[in-house]
Amino acid sequence: MTLYEGRLNRPVSELMDSLNRSLPVDIRLLPYDVAVNRAWAEELGRIGVFGKEEVENVTRELDALLAEARAGAFDTLPEDEDVHTLTERFLTERLGDTGAKIHTGRSRNDQVATDFRLYIMDALNGLMDDVATLLGVLRGPIETHAATLLAGTTHLQPAQPITLGHFLASLASALLRDFDRLADARGRAALCPLGSGALAGSGFKVDRVRLARELGFDGVLPNSLDAIADRDAAQETAGVCAILAAHISRYAEQFVLWSHPSFGYLRFSDRWSTGSSMMPQKRNPDAMELVRGKASRVAGQVTTLLSLTKGLPLSYAKDLQEDKQALFDAVDTTCLVVQVMAGALADVEFLPDRMARTLTGDMLATDLADRLVEAGTPFRAAHGEVARWVAELEKAGKNPLDTTLKERKKRFPNLSEKALALDYETSIRRRDVEGGAAPSRVREFVIKLDRWLENRAASGNDSSVSDSEK
Ligand code: ARG
Repeated sequence: MTLYEGRLNRPVSELMDSLNRSLPVDIRLLPYDVAVNRAWAEELGRIGVFGKEEVENVTRELDALLAEARAGAFDTLPEDEDVHTLTERFLTERLGDTGAKIHTGRSRNDQVATDFRLYIMDALNGLMDDVATLLGVLRGPIETHAATLLAGTTHLQPAQPITLGHFLASLASALLRDFDRLADARGRAALCPLGSGALAGSGFKVDRVRLARELGFDGVLPNSLDAIADRDAAQETAGVCAILAAHISRYAEQFVLWSHPSFGYLRFSDRWSTGSSMMPQKRNPDAMELVRGKASRVAGQVTTLLSLTKGLPLSYAKDLQEDKQALFDAVDTTCLVVQVMAGALADVEFLPDRMARTLTGDMLATDLADRLVEAGTPFRAAHGEVARWVAELEKAGKNPLDTTLKERKKRFPNLSEKALALDYETSIRRRDVEGGAAPSRVREFVIKLDRWLENRAASGNDSSVSDSEK
């Protein structure tokens, strides 16, 4: 007996079959579909559709299905349209009428929505782990280089001295928000659609709250139409992935620049580099370039997922089947990108001498203007005085640090020698506000990061379907 027998009498065209069959993609949901079937069988037992023995038999065969699939000992058939029909076909083959009862009171619409949210919850856990690992990798160099001078830029032009530690802490700071976004998204994903039926709610008196608890959800979605029709959990997850991947990609671009000899700030290890098939001398930062490229794909999947629902009449329509491929790709790609950044940074060699060499005296112009302000000059006037001086020096091929204290004194007679003694260390030390480039502030951030990493390690990870099935 095939799925649509009774209604549709001729086999579908081959093209229709390849359009319609989602099994190659959604087979990945099998552990979740097994969990959902198990919970559903128990519920059918509770309301008297299944006897006690039938529930046990279904549970046993579901375990066998998963074990056989994992061992590669399980053949799919052409009529297995998707992972849900496969599970039902398997149970029916093994258990006859018991298997034929499993779809009582449910639809693939609430089944797939439930499987998918379980997957999303696990995926978000995995991403949180990866982000925490990357934060752990960043911690060391942030502390080691809390006082390592770096030429900070805006518009990619020399701006003010900062430190390498401060720079790396900027990535950590962004990643902490990404982590929070992942955790938030997980909270909203953890609401269970099961029991919503095809669209109107199950016609059998199943206990949705019990089902949700059984499956590890925090609660139930409160409307059956919304529960089976919306894909916002997938959209939100992809969106969070896209922001995370964009963060990683931006720093990847920075590191590509830094690996060019004109910067020469770092050297990726051979393990994270490639050569050229033609140019024997080449050493390319492909890892970072691929990270950049992959972030584009993740951003694209957000569009795929949003356009699936933006004009879709309620409730279910088959368009929604395209959601899995898009989100699997967004999540897999984001995991990869985060892991690659962690691996490459764990191995990278920073070159502080090269960083120091690109600092230029004009980057202390703001400091000089600040000293004039302290001596009573309004900031705008101080800005103008220093700007004129820097421009004159530039014409002479010089910068402020090429001048003697005496020359500076002559130019700015109101300033003490101490105020005129410009240097990079003083400049960063004076950026002594919370979050500033002062080494003490960067070390303060390390202490906060340590506390965060400790909390994360102590709280461990939520258990998940795939973990418990492993
Ligand atoms: N494979 C389908 C999907 O991924 C499952 C739901 C099918 N529902 C239906 N009424 N045809 O969306």
